Amino acid sequence: EKGTYDHYMIKEINDQPGAMRKIISQYQDENEQLVIDDAIIEQLKETDRIYIVAAGTSYHAGLIGKEYFEKWAKIPTEVHVASEFVYNTPMLSEKPLFVFISQSGETADSRAVLVEVKKLGYPTLTITNVAGSTLSREADETLLLYAGPEIAVASTKAYTAQIAVLSITAQVAARELGQEIDIDLMQELAVVTNAINAVINDASIIENIVREYLETTRNAFFIGRTLDYYVGLEGALKLKEISYIQAEGFAGGELKHGTIALIEKGTPVFSLITQDKVNLNTRGNAQEVEARGAKVCTISMAGLDEEGDDYVIPKVHPMLSPLVSVIVYQFVAYYAALHRGNDVDKPRNLAKSVTVE
Ligand code: F6R
Repeated sequence: EKGTYDHYMIKEINDQPGAMRKIISQYQDENEQLVIDDAIIEQLKETDRIYIVAAGTSYHAGLIGKEYFEKWAKIPTEVHVASEFVYNTPMLSEKPLFVFISQSGETADSRAVLVEVKKLGYPTLTITNVAGSTLSREADETLLLYAGPEIAVASTKAYTAQIAVLSITAQVAARELGQEIDIDLMQELAVVTNAINAVINDASIIENIVREYLETTRNAFFIGRTLDYYVGLEGALKLKEISYIQAEGFAGGELKHGTIALIEKGTPVFSLITQDKVNLNTRGNAQEVEARGAKVCTISMAGLDEEGDDYVIPKVHPMLSPLVSVIVYQFVAYYAALHRGNDVDKPRNLAKSVTVE
């Protein structure tokens, strides 16, 4: 039930600290060791390459998951859009592990891939919010998101839950594979939980950002590099689906290869800065569009912030910043849709679970 909230979406945005706490408690034992099923540990130890298959927001979470599997567990990982994978299957490694990420567990595009790879006898793992869903039943193994029911069509808490569960899975894989561990993940996820709370408490500040940048615009851009690029993709998708503002997320460095032609006086560009090594590059890209008339809204992480930034998220472990920065974009999309008088929870032309290919 949405209780005192006006919409499911705003309730579900607010559910995220609780969902984080639930995930932290579900995935550790009494000794505060990270735990997942032994059978899944075996899958991770056996594989030479992970193939993440998903759609939409879950695909965007997969892009972050790839970073965790490769940087922490040193397992090569590819991320694929399910609807493409079925008809254009990439070359597979000798021992692939297929990981399906799906809030609903019912997405037909993802299921079509699952059916095919099962025929080939490959191991499969589903990461889903819905126990007993089709993708959960049909895969060998399941990891649950524990985010609670997600009703609004625009996915919010499932995305952050997916990233959290992917981070835990990759850390377990790193441990089991004897890789060096340089992060206390549960401790850092607790820090993230507080940071998410802080952003939620700043909702009215983000609503003002929407007033300043998005009230009349027909389009918007989201730039960033590395993890911030992936969050930009999600920010753009969220904004498109409920505000109907045409939005595009892309890597800051790609601007000059085409998109910059679209920048006009007043075009809003959201620039996300949470990664030290690309901070100055992204700021440089922001200056390039600003010089051509764009209105740049800079969202940075404490420690990398500069005077004039529009919003600063609390400092968290840089690998986990998507869990916090995306909250800003969830609010941006929510208020943009609300101010336009749109049906926030049920945007036109969309269904919550897409059970057709
Ligand atoms: C976006 C959104 C969709 C879903 C996509 C996959 O807000 O909700 O892009 O993420 O349809 O759905 P699941 O995760 O249920 O497979």
